[in-house]
Amino acid sequence: MPIILRKCGKEVFKMSFFEQHAHYNDEKFDEDREDVINKVYNSGVTKIVNAGYSVESSMQAIDLAEKYSFIYATCGVSPNDIPENKEEIDLQLKEVTKLAKSSKKVVAIGEIGLDYYWNKENKELQKYAFVEQIKIANEMNLPIVIHTREAVDDTLNILRNVIKTVKPGVFHCCPLNRELVKQALELGFYISLAGPVTFKNSKNANEIIEMIPNDRILIETDSPYLSPEPNRGKRNDSRNLVYIAEKIANVKNISVEEVQKTTFQNAKKLYNID
Ligand code: NI
Repeated sequence: MPIILRKCGKEVFKMSFFEQHAHYNDEKFDEDREDVINKVYNSGVTKIVNAGYSVESSMQAIDLAEKYSFIYATCGVSPNDIPENKEEIDLQLKEVTKLAKSSKKVVAIGEIGLDYYWNKENKELQKYAFVEQIKIANEMNLPIVIHTREAVDDTLNILRNVIKTVKPGVFHCCPLNRELVKQALELGFYISLAGPVTFKNSKNANEIIEMIPNDRILIETDSPYLSPEPNRGKRNDSRNLVYIAEKIANVKNISVEEVQKTTFQNAKKLYNID
């Protein structure tokens, strides 16, 4: 395990971050995937959950997890990747189930959920795929990784009134919405913060960070998307986790090392990783 002494302001500490959500299966890493993953690991990011979002990307997530001991995978079909009818969805979810059962490195079903920002026309199909995938997670006793965008009410309604999860899951790249965070915490979910909390125009980031108890907070980059300040706009990778940790440390008035340790422990607990 690499031991990196990292200087954050006045702090010097051994870096060992847990990246709770990234997509090294994305085509943006096709040119230099191995190189980036090695750089990320050698920088002190020693655990990574690589998220699937379609059948194909779930397969690639498992391939990476089988190749690298420190990478884990999630399998699922995201609301932005679901097919056009129920029959096709059912077929794909059969594949997802097979994949999820094919490797011990699969630690969650995801990312799944609702996205009415990118897709307004197929809300019923999105809900169907979301509920069906929660059933798969429940059957396998796995947590879920939720993607939700402009769909707060329907997402919470499903979790509260339609189907309960057997395990607490995580709201990945959680929208900075007070009501969502409040109710997600009530439901026992973890809240994962990504690059947007560092953006200068993100008005309620501080308030949201303060709302999340230390034992329920996680950090992620969602690479290759959503680079935090000061690298906003560039391709993201997990070396940028430290900026999200710094932001949380500043708002909670704790050390970056403490953020690193708590988020590491929380992620291990969520995904049941030793
Ligand atoms: Ni993602």
